[in-house]
Amino acid sequence: MTTFDTPPSTQARSTGPTVQEVLGAEAERQVVPSALLIESAADFGVADLPKERYLDKAYHDREVAKMWSKVWQMACREEDIPNVGDSINYEIVDESIIVVRTGPTEFKAYVNSCLHRGTQLIRGKQSVQSFSCPFHGWSWNLDGTMRNLPCQWDFPQLDKSTMSLPEVKVDTWDGWVFINLDPDSGTLPEYLGQILPAHFEQMPLKSRFKAAHVQARVPANWKATMEAFIESYHVFITHPQIVSITGDHNTQYDVFDQHSNRMVTLIAVPSPSLGDSVDDEEIVETYAEFLGSNEPTEIPEGKTARDVASEIHRTEFTKLYGVDMSKMSNTELIDAIEYALFPNFIPWAGDGFPIVYRFRPDGDNHQACIVDVMLMGMCPEGIDPPTAAVHWLDAAPGSDSPDWTTAPELGPLGAILNQDMANLSRVQRGLRASKKDVTFSAYQESRIRHFAHILDRYLEA
Ligand code: FES
Ligand SMILES: [Fe+2]
Repeated sequence: MTTFDTPPSTQARSTGPTVQEVLGAEAERQVVPSALLIESAADFGVADLPKERYLDKAYHDREVAKMWSKVWQMACREEDIPNVGDSINYEIVDESIIVVRTGPTEFKAYVNSCLHRGTQLIRGKQSVQSFSCPFHGWSWNLDGTMRNLPCQWDFPQLDKSTMSLPEVKVDTWDGWVFINLDPDSGTLPEYLGQILPAHFEQMPLKSRFKAAHVQARVPANWKATMEAFIESYHVFITHPQIVSITGDHNTQYDVFDQHSNRMVTLIAVPSPSLGDSVDDEEIVETYAEFLGSNEPTEIPEGKTARDVASEIHRTEFTKLYGVDMSKMSNTELIDAIEYALFPNFIPWAGDGFPIVYRFRPDGDNHQACIVDVMLMGMCPEGIDPPTAAVHWLDAAPGSDSPDWTTAPELGPLGAILNQDMANLSRVQRGLRASKKDVTFSAYQESRIRHFAHILDRYLEA
């Protein structure tokens, strides 16, 4: 039985202009990517979801056996391992995988465990010409074949030529390196479907670079945590400082193909739940303040608040990146355009907030997770800026969560993340006390229902 066996839910929507109304009007005077001029809502009913999906170790074990072992997972950026021999250790629950660049555009992945007594061959990020075990020195070439077996005379049972490292499937898309633990899986392009690649063709991340990468442990299930980042329903209460410039409750939620979905939240429009209480001047001033900009905030005749906010954004980010952003539309400049690829990869498009999130269980602990927050910068052609190394944030003293504002590279996002994360330890603790299943809305939380639906399919397979 799936979780979505209820009658069709209501098609009700918030008051306020729709995303399509606003972007449709702007498309008459600027080039808006066609990817943003479509809507694709889906109906997954209104049934509660069982709270066990966040609490039960047995449920987590099924996720490991039937989902994490089958899906394509974003392991790193191509630029994290720019030179041949550069390697990174990607971990998911108990799995540890070496992802290595073996050629200018070639990558391989191997099980990160010595074939002698199991030692991890690499940790973190390393640049190597071979994988050499730190214990007794067994080593492997970058192509996975065995290189050296010290005192081979003492291993009469072994034949070096059959001692290659076990391979893991690897492929790339839009600058990201993905792995799949299932040797019988379909291809990455099959998994991505049609829509996601087509949309990122229009708003590519490939040409961008990772300007920030912050990682921390959050004391909540990975799904509960991710679900706090794929809806804008919470903005009104959790992030009150941005509601005058965030079209939260009239966000558009789309479901694509089988593994991807999206939301588009208009920025520099007020929350519909504020009624008519916000004027255009206040919107532009609040937006400028949010960016820390001193640019002029007057709204010339014939321009909208979004036009002026976009111009402020364009000016500030042109200074920051040194690239020509003159052709970017309002929506690409300021809106929150957030895609998601099941199970846990959340790349944003456009430039409003060039964020990428990833959410994984904290090792084999399903009541905590590891969150990655990346910012994707732009740079002039021919310049190769350094890729941000991972900045690990420890929990603040006396707290179970880190203070995200201690990562200055996140800019104004740090304070927003603190607000989101403050909810999450309470979510996990409260779920344990709860006497009911978990309730979700029909539309604003439809992306959560979509991913829950996909997860059900994996678990039932
Ligand atoms: S455990 Fe790796 S060489 Fe012995
Ligand atoms: Fe949030």
